[in-house]
Amino acid sequence: MNILTVKNGKELSDVASSHILKAVKDKPDLVLGIATGGTPSGTYQQLVEKVQLHSVDLSNIKTVNLDEYVGLARNHEESYWHYLHEHLYGPLGLSPDQALIPNGLNENLEKECVRYEKAIEKVGGVDLQILGVGRNGHIGFNEPGTPLDSKTHVVELTDSTRQANARFFDDPSEVPTRAITVGISTIMKSRSILLLASGKEKSDAVSALLSGKIDPQWPVTVLNQHPDVTLVVTEDAKAEEHEHAE
Ligand code: GLP
Repeated sequence: MNILTVKNGKELSDVASSHILKAVKDKPDLVLGIATGGTPSGTYQQLVEKVQLHSVDLSNIKTVNLDEYVGLARNHEESYWHYLHEHLYGPLGLSPDQALIPNGLNENLEKECVRYEKAIEKVGGVDLQILGVGRNGHIGFNEPGTPLDSKTHVVELTDSTRQANARFFDDPSEVPTRAITVGISTIMKSRSILLLASGKEKSDAVSALLSGKIDPQWPVTVLNQHPDVTLVVTEDAKAEEHEHAE
């Protein structure tokens, strides 16, 4: 694992956005896996600025979003569909057929999961997957205990995740109870991974990862088995002691 330790979120966004930009320059038809959550938002903002500054042609890239809440209308401010169109796909000038997002409004969610998994295969799989990490170690919405061989599936969100995400909603009771997420095995098929961790509330998850062990109770630790991971981590997210190694 390539570990880049940075001082703060601003530096993380700078390093991560440059990493993505380089990947697009190296492969203009890049398939980019997109994560949501608070951590990558500064990265996306800087990516938009850098793409505009350097006039980078994105007309041949594809994006594949990791997850989406079940039951939130597309125009709901907190649906990932809305967030990404507003903050990333719109400013980058991507057309709708360039951006894949699971449909959390499909009446047949099982069918939607199968459709999405096939759609990822059809674009040739993900070249560079951006990931954040939940404070309980989740990646995408793969909560602790998710089978490591899972594909795209519907999840019941844990209380910890719903509480963490309540800050984005007017009322905590509005946080959906379910989501569709790309599975762990699908994430592991990505050819490279850019993992972002910022803030001391992520230090338990980061220390579990850095223990080098694989523990399904900390889904992020599966990345220890991936051959091409870059971790960009703020100083406060990288605890000195690796309690989970004990
Ligand atoms: C969210 C998303 C994940 C994200 C994680 C951490 O619920 N589904 O993709 O990585 O939780 O979010 P944040 O960056 O806001 O801490």
